[in-house]
Amino acid sequence: MRVLVAVASRHGGTQEIGSVIADALREAGHDVDEREPADVALIDPYGAVVLGSAVYNGRWLPDARELAQRAATPLSRRPVWLFSSGLATLPASASNSPIEMRDLTERLAARGHRKFAGRLDRSVLSFAERTIIAAARGRDGDYRDLDAVRAWGDEIAAELGPVLGQPETGIGTLGRDGGHI
Ligand SMILES: Cc1cc2nc3c(=O)[nH]c(=O)nc-3n(C[C@H](O)[C@H](O)[C@H](O)COP(=O)(O)O)c2cc1C
Repeated sequence: MRVLVAVASRHGGTQEIGSVIADALREAGHDVDEREPADVALIDPYGAVVLGSAVYNGRWLPDARELAQRAATPLSRRPVWLFSSGLATLPASASNSPIEMRDLTERLAARGHRKFAGRLDRSVLSFAERTIIAAARGRDGDYRDLDAVRAWGDEIAAELGPVLGQPETGIGTLGRDGGHI
């Protein structure tokens, strides 16, 4: 199946999470396109979509929100998984904007929304970003659990089922509520 992995990322950490998911799907035999949300013109060629974003100031990045909005109808007609990446330890973040995400998950009839810890490297931040991070007392570090990301990619592959011509894995499919909301 042709699968789209569209990820909005400012400093690359979330994009790498998307690539781990894309690799898991490729290894399961899928034909995967990795794109930035702004570069996605059409959803029609894809049988399934994974859409993710870094969280900044409690929200998804604008490009990811914009794709979810402009392609809401085609996205809701195929299997969709959402993920967010942020620093749960940031006091100012409170969360990955759960109301917005619950609404998006419902609107797109997404099979799940998964949150992954992110990465913070102050040396690559703009002055404005550094000011926000200093106020929030965010600590530098790579908190990403790429094994957990990989496992989630494998779960998505299992839910999509075997690709024609690929050997059966014997892994059962997950129910609609198999993802984390
Ligand atoms: C200015 C700024 C604001 C941030 N705001 C949040 C936030 O509200 N919630 C959160 O969970 N993480 C927040 N983060 C952490 C980022 O989501 C995290 O560093 C993420 O891994 C960045 O992904 P990227 O490398 O793909 O841009 C913030 C980081 C910065 C620099």
